[in-house]
Amino acid sequence: MALTAATLFRCGGYYPSCKPNAPAGGYRPPTKAAAAAAGAGNGNGVLAINRSSRRCRSTATASRESMAGRRQEMKDIVDEEEWRSYLAPERLEVLREIEPWVEENVLPLLKPVEASWQPSDLLPDPAALGSDGFHAACLELRKRAAGVPDELLVCLVANMVTEEALPMYPSGLNRLEVVRDTTGADATAWARWIRGWSAEENRHGDVLNRYMHLSGRFDMREVERTVQRLIRDGMTVHAPASPFHGFAYVAFQERATAIAHGNTARLVGARGAGDAALARICGTVAADEKRHEAAYTRIMGKLFEADPDAAVRAMAYMMRRRIDMPTAFINDGRHSSGDFYARFIAIAEKAGTYTLSDYRCILEHLMRQWRVEELTAGLSSDGRHAQDYLCALPHKIKRMEEKAHDRVVKAKKKPTLIPINWIFDRPISVVVP
Ligand SMILES: [Fe+2]
Ligand SMILES: [Fe+2]
Repeated sequence: MALTAATLFRCGGYYPSCKPNAPAGGYRPPTKAAAAAAGAGNGNGVLAINRSSRRCRSTATASRESMAGRRQEMKDIVDEEEWRSYLAPERLEVLREIEPWVEENVLPLLKPVEASWQPSDLLPDPAALGSDGFHAACLELRKRAAGVPDELLVCLVANMVTEEALPMYPSGLNRLEVVRDTTGADATAWARWIRGWSAEENRHGDVLNRYMHLSGRFDMREVERTVQRLIRDGMTVHAPASPFHGFAYVAFQERATAIAHGNTARLVGARGAGDAALARICGTVAADEKRHEAAYTRIMGKLFEADPDAAVRAMAYMMRRRIDMPTAFINDGRHSSGDFYARFIAIAEKAGTYTLSDYRCILEHLMRQWRVEELTAGLSSDGRHAQDYLCALPHKIKRMEEKAHDRVVKAKKKPTLIPINWIFDRPISVVVP
């Protein structure tokens, strides 16, 4: 992600100029010859030319900007028409039709409460251990945690903040037509899935939060402020009411989360930083995420079966806009959220918890699961374009990884020290592209 999202940000043009009034390409003073021609004998010639040049340039800039603005407006309208076409009753019918299939094939992927792990299973329990035992267990936990390097601690915070922002996710699913839980206690298979999934997710933030609290390695107040900010700021959801788009996003995102927790488990564990208790926590969370990934991948697979044209176009629509972690607005209260996110993903890339290569592998995996390359029947010409786009995308991302790597090497960029308030402002050294 030094190569990851920062690279994708650039390709998506996500960073507008921070100087909105600066002319594109920068202002250049007129040449001496031009000044002489325009203002010979006039002491104000250069100034006059400068002013007129500024005016011309700023008129040209304004016109370019307004054209770009109009183009963007048109694009937004076309985009909105595209995803809103998925809300037509005949297209949504399939979601109603497959509800019995959800009951049989998706709901069993939830574990009964009685068979589920709970955060207290994975952490020292004061009631069971007694005062001395609890004290000793906490000292042991702190001793292990002391060996985890700072960059992994920062990634762990981001994992935990992502989980703690849970209120945003069921809200997102409840925006989807047909599947939403309209009363908050609907009996449909879709609604029971959303609630059961949220209830399982709720344990993830809890267990990570409690471990972090006991470890003594984090400025918990700063972490808590980050959680509050993120829930307040929300997340961007493309095509917010379309189940086709929504499930494509969540299938991708659950696999991404499983990979991030799984990588963290591997890196902090016995063969890495030596904190086996933390590795067990992260591994347990990752296993839940894998079950959730399986559920959303099945749902999207069913939509590919029922309406391949709609499904492949929805998937391409989401990939064109990039699948961001839900924490894209995460921030430490010092930087804008985009700036902080770019710094964080550079740290995650360096630490190896989630990388651009992971992003590409997830895409390749899902395309295999949904047999995107093999789709033939039932595709419109837009559907075939979407299929071509998706099939070419992994290669494009691979090229981006290589180019970004070459750029960093060529520019001989030096690492920057980034103080992170979650870990008491200890700095992380990272190359920010
Ligand atoms: Fe989770
Ligand atoms: Fe999840």
